[in-house]
Amino acid sequence: MEKYILALDQGTTSSRAIIFNKKGEIVGTAQHEFEQFFPKPGWVEHDANEIWTSILACIAEVLRKADIDPGDIASIGISNQRETTVVWDKNSGKPIYKAIVWQSRQTEGICRELRGKGYNDLFNEKTGLLLDPYFSGTKVKWILDNVEGAREKADNGDLLFGTIDSWLVYKLSGGKVHVTDYSNASRTLMFNIYDLKWDDELLNILTVPKSMLPEVRQSSEVYANTVDYHFFGYNVPISGIAGDQQAALFGQACFEKGMVKNTYGTGCFMLMNTGKKGVKSKHGLLTTLAWGVNGEVEYALEGSIFVAGSAIQWLRDGLRMIENAPQSENYSTKVDSADGVYFVPAFVGLGTPYWDSDARGAVFGLTRGTTKEHFIRATLESLAYQTRDVLEAMVADSGIELKSLRVDGGAVKNDFLMQFQSDILGVPVDRPVVNETTALGAAFLAGLAVGYWSEKEEIAKQWKKQQTFTEELAEDKREELYKGWKKAVAATRQFK
Ligand code: G3P
Repeated sequence: MEKYILALDQGTTSSRAIIFNKKGEIVGTAQHEFEQFFPKPGWVEHDANEIWTSILACIAEVLRKADIDPGDIASIGISNQRETTVVWDKNSGKPIYKAIVWQSRQTEGICRELRGKGYNDLFNEKTGLLLDPYFSGTKVKWILDNVEGAREKADNGDLLFGTIDSWLVYKLSGGKVHVTDYSNASRTLMFNIYDLKWDDELLNILTVPKSMLPEVRQSSEVYANTVDYHFFGYNVPISGIAGDQQAALFGQACFEKGMVKNTYGTGCFMLMNTGKKGVKSKHGLLTTLAWGVNGEVEYALEGSIFVAGSAIQWLRDGLRMIENAPQSENYSTKVDSADGVYFVPAFVGLGTPYWDSDARGAVFGLTRGTTKEHFIRATLESLAYQTRDVLEAMVADSGIELKSLRVDGGAVKNDFLMQFQSDILGVPVDRPVVNETTALGAAFLAGLAVGYWSEKEEIAKQWKKQQTFTEELAEDKREELYKGWKKAVAATRQFK
């Protein structure tokens, strides 16, 4: 009987379940969106229980749609929105506060205070990250400081912290297992990415008790089995975990040092595999763990853009300029250019390379002749410009000139965006056949652990290109457009 791997991809705006076969082909998908809470400007929260029920709904739906018996699932892999922080009571299994999302800025005050005390370099040296609200550590502190009774419970050892992977394994295992993997741990500001241990000094500074933290495991090994009441009577092994961006790097088969992928999701994240050594950045990139597989960890350099696909979602839900994301391409191609309009989507500050928490979105270059088409086009172009900012930092840090860029994520279906991306980078952009690379990476990690696939090389052979976009814009035009973007970013950052 043919067996399959189930990938659970828990993203920022939706949960998905995707079933893959041995050839790495998709045989079924299910997707459920869930509510986004914006309690104050710049704050973003989720309901961790709703995330859990959305995952259960996806599992049931994908098995039904693909007509696959739950007993034919060989194992489960999880990829997840990273950094998003859940704190729950270990006695009741209930979260004590909403999940604070990676995009949320509510801990800027804590970060500012810690930066003011001169701690940024210490955190950067040990974790490869920066004192920015993006990461989990200050979010845990915020919950302990702001939820009534939380600090006391944490001190008594009654609270657990986890990123979403950790929360889902806990739930799927019926509350028995509290783990995470190297890639997720490396996004918490509490994990030393060189010693591969939770760091006591950083925990002290953040006032987070160690008893709350999950056990850190490899990205490909059996962590737990599903309890039968959550998986139709079956105890299926959960055997792969990676943060979604690292999972995408794995799914794109970027196994060699110097290989790079860029994922266009809610945000946009470019990762370069740097092999067995962490490379320290001088240009605002993060050093992070890519994964731990077969007893060894590998590192990556990362550029993080906070707003990408969510800017298109904003055109749809906030401004109601489009009815669905694909329409953004139709409108953009109705005009020859953005006609001098630049949109800087700094809704929650700016990440790489600016790391400016207080910046907010801005539009420049409007004239009486500006139309909705120009505005929509400027929004799509902003994804490509932000990517160029990151790529410049990556080339400067690594010294490696990029020959091509592997892309994935929802927005890569947009041909206009991919063409403009290549035009503005001056580098070919390779779109793979399977652009659900995040889920595929989680499936690969899970499958490797249970012998479904035998080795990374077998996986690398499955990667196939669907289309390459090559630059069509003259170099002087490219540089002129990019210069305009840099001016727009500088002006955005002045307005505070
Ligand atoms: O670091 C945040 C990232 O993991 C979120 O990914 O796919 O939801 O944009 P995505």
